[in-house]
Amino acid sequence: MVKSLRIPSFKQIQLILLVIFILGTLTALVLIKKQTDTRSRASSDTSQEAESGLKTGNVSTGSDTTASSGQYIQFGNPQLPQPTTISTPAATNPTPTAKPVQAFNAHAVLGSSVSPWYFNDSRSEATLKQYHFSLLAMENELKPQMVLWGLDQNSFMDTSRWNWGGADQEISVAKRNGWQIHGHTLVWHSNNPTFFNNLPNDQLKTFLQTYVTTVTSHYCGQLDSLDVVNEAFGDDGNPLPSGIWTPTSDYSISIWNKAFGGSDYIKLAFQWAHAACPSMKLYLNDYNAEAMNSKSNGIYTYIKNMKAQGVPIDGYGMQLHQGNISGQFEYGFADPTSVANNMKRFADIGVLVRISEYDQLVHDHTASTLSDQAKKAGALAAVCYAASNCTSFTVWGLTDGVSWYNGISPQPSDGKGYTPLLFDTNFNPKANYWTVHDALHLP
Ligand code: G3I
Repeated sequence: MVKSLRIPSFKQIQLILLVIFILGTLTALVLIKKQTDTRSRASSDTSQEAESGLKTGNVSTGSDTTASSGQYIQFGNPQLPQPTTISTPAATNPTPTAKPVQAFNAHAVLGSSVSPWYFNDSRSEATLKQYHFSLLAMENELKPQMVLWGLDQNSFMDTSRWNWGGADQEISVAKRNGWQIHGHTLVWHSNNPTFFNNLPNDQLKTFLQTYVTTVTSHYCGQLDSLDVVNEAFGDDGNPLPSGIWTPTSDYSISIWNKAFGGSDYIKLAFQWAHAACPSMKLYLNDYNAEAMNSKSNGIYTYIKNMKAQGVPIDGYGMQLHQGNISGQFEYGFADPTSVANNMKRFADIGVLVRISEYDQLVHDHTASTLSDQAKKAGALAAVCYAASNCTSFTVWGLTDGVSWYNGISPQPSDGKGYTPLLFDTNFNPKANYWTVHDALHLP
């Protein structure tokens, strides 16, 4: 049976359209609300992550240090677009240690070498304080003979057995007085343990690297400066010393030149030391090369080349031992003007200098020789004070009673010793202290 279709009335059509309109409007409202909720949640997530990134330091900006390492800058929200890679800026200065020399010479400080036993006598520290010393140099404590005392080739690598006691004691005196401390010296042809002499070259090279690296890193942050290499040059300025000190001794050719087949050990030692402690100021130290002469010319050229090659070196120590003991020590007397010229050429290549081991021999104790000693000391200290790059005037021992010359034979015939230092055996300042005092403008 077929039911007949009824046509809806006009009122019924109006009602149906109204219902459709209401339903459509409601659906549209629900959809709009959903979209709004999603957007606002997304924006609140982003700001929270950004905030947490700030708190944890994860949000980087263009000035962040990560930028210089050539990595992507990471933002807190990894969904956000990433900037492009920041490349490491090209080095503008190929010499890593070149520093304005003026920065280091607020004034050239007065320094003294010391040994730990100095401080068994309270007058040592009291004198250093009273007379305005502000730098201690380690006379012997970092030489391999001292640090490696009691060890042999089998125990060398056990660095827990190395002897730090003497150096530690000197550092503690310097620290409690706020003084600088200068280490001396890691690489020298002298005062090495005897077992160094019997090692095959390869093992000796490894031992030297271990020695330089271990000592420098052990005292990183504690020493201000360090003699890495000592007395490596001949009188002719060649870094293959021959005939220095005592020509008949085994010093005639350094064990280091022999082991390395040349002088490369000098540059390597500076590289090892710098790698172990980039903040420590590293010095090459030598004697009879304070004024302009063949030896200082050779050292100047060598250091200039080191810098050109990017080998890290900060300074050059001019020992400045003055006077002669015939046939043994022929230092002569350095002309102050020539020393000033020598300091200047190092300043011009950004290299610091220091007077590192000053003393002056007196053979007879007449008024005129003592006055000469005082005048010369003052003139040389004035040169250091005037030089923009001279960081300290350091004497090799505090009183005449402790000078290394006291162990040398012969002694002056008047029985008074060589009296090379600024204080007498009773810790009284001598005329040469006062000329140095004035030249350095000490209080
Ligand atoms: O401390 C030991 C002791 O325990 C041991 O019994 C004795 C046995 O010889 O040696 C003692 O070590 C001596 C050390 O001084 C500490 O007193 C060394 O033998 C002795 O050779 C050493 O002399 C030093 C010398 O360099 C050699 O290293 C002097 O004190 C020191 O003033 C002198 O300083 C040198 C600079 O380092 C470089 N420029 C020249 C300057 C003067 O020679």
